[in-house]
Amino acid sequence: MKKVRVGIIGAGNISVLHTEGYKKLENAEIVAVCDLNEEKAKAYAEKYDIPHVFTDYEEMLKMEGLDAVSVTTWNNGHGPISIAAMKAGKDVLCEKPLAMNAEEAQVMVDTAKETGRLLMVGFVRRFENNVNYMKKAIENDELGNIYYAKTGYVRKWGNPGGWFCDKKRSGGGPVIDLGVHVIDLIRYLTGKPEAVSVTASTFNQLGIKPYIKGMGKYNADDYDPNNPYCDVEDAATALIKFDNGMTLNFETSWVLHTKDNNNYLMFYGDKAGVKMEPEIEFYKEHNQYFVNESPCIEQEENKFAEIFNKETAHFIDCVANGTPCLNPGKDGVAIMKILDAIYKSAETGSEVKING
Ligand SMILES: NC(=O)c1ccc[n+]([C@@H]2O[C@H](COP(=O)([O-])OP(=O)(O)OC[C@H]3O[C@@H](n4cnc5c(N)ncnc54)[C@H](O)[C@@H]3O)[C@@H](O)[C@H]2O)c1
Repeated sequence: MKKVRVGIIGAGNISVLHTEGYKKLENAEIVAVCDLNEEKAKAYAEKYDIPHVFTDYEEMLKMEGLDAVSVTTWNNGHGPISIAAMKAGKDVLCEKPLAMNAEEAQVMVDTAKETGRLLMVGFVRRFENNVNYMKKAIENDELGNIYYAKTGYVRKWGNPGGWFCDKKRSGGGPVIDLGVHVIDLIRYLTGKPEAVSVTASTFNQLGIKPYIKGMGKYNADDYDPNNPYCDVEDAATALIKFDNGMTLNFETSWVLHTKDNNNYLMFYGDKAGVKMEPEIEFYKEHNQYFVNESPCIEQEENKFAEIFNKETAHFIDCVANGTPCLNPGKDGVAIMKILDAIYKSAETGSEVKING
């Protein structure tokens, strides 16, 4: 069996889940790793038994015998690196967000078309068991016309600092880091309607709060507690309207004076409503009563690792067998248009219309 030869660009936290996913596959092998930080790249290569190490992705892309790459750098690398990789004839699995903004994302999609390469965006939550169940349920019209949805990805104390807080490298705060996942799921599950308008507010009131005790939090690799710099939002809310008539109410935060972290996805249709997190629960009418119903869905034992395993397996399947891609680049553009509109609406204080 011919193996797909993969390179990892950006040897940081999330790349580990890509690498471990590829390592489980018989038809893939990791042949190179690249990171700006040479020591980090070398240690990574040793740990995962990867033969070639680079600090410059342009050099890595010249390598013969490289078929595909995972782009797992800071957000500002996603566009330039994916474009260079496709131009060098490689298929690309790019982490979310697809780019820093919709314009850059569109150039990536255009490049995929021009070069005939695959551009897959890392919307990894689409591989969750609950999401697959809901996709079928909505396709089978169990909710009827979905006219309203609500989603939130709210952290009480989870500003990671470091590059996440540096707009030049991240493009923004929890909107682009966390919101991207849940807005994508709402859109994916409702048949990918296009957003037509956004009214939003973003806030930067609490920042990083490095001195807070009593709660664990995830810090960026380059987080420096002595330099709690943050020029991106720490919370946001938005009202997003879609071309199918659905209205979405969205909120997100890294830091908020609230009781608990709160992740939710809710859909309201004219036949039924549903809450997806942590377990799926339907709300509907039955024999002239309102009833609540929960399907029995086997939950992943180690969800985070398992969904990345499925994502990398799907990418390799697309590259090796031409299987249609579940997460095409154009879905990343649609989400970037919404995120751009959130930031623009917050800045201008007005509703932003999205065209086409
Ligand atoms: N899908 C998810 O659930 C999920 C979760 C976390 C992070 N992410 C995404 O993954 C990406 C990486 O996040 P992370 O937490 O692993 O960050 P990280 O800081 O741990 O790793 C990023 C690595 O990329 C390297 N890098 C940056 N620019 C580079 C370049 N031009 N060439 C080579 N190396 C470069 C950095 O040196 C760093 O080692 C981000 O885009 C983030 O949004 C996705």
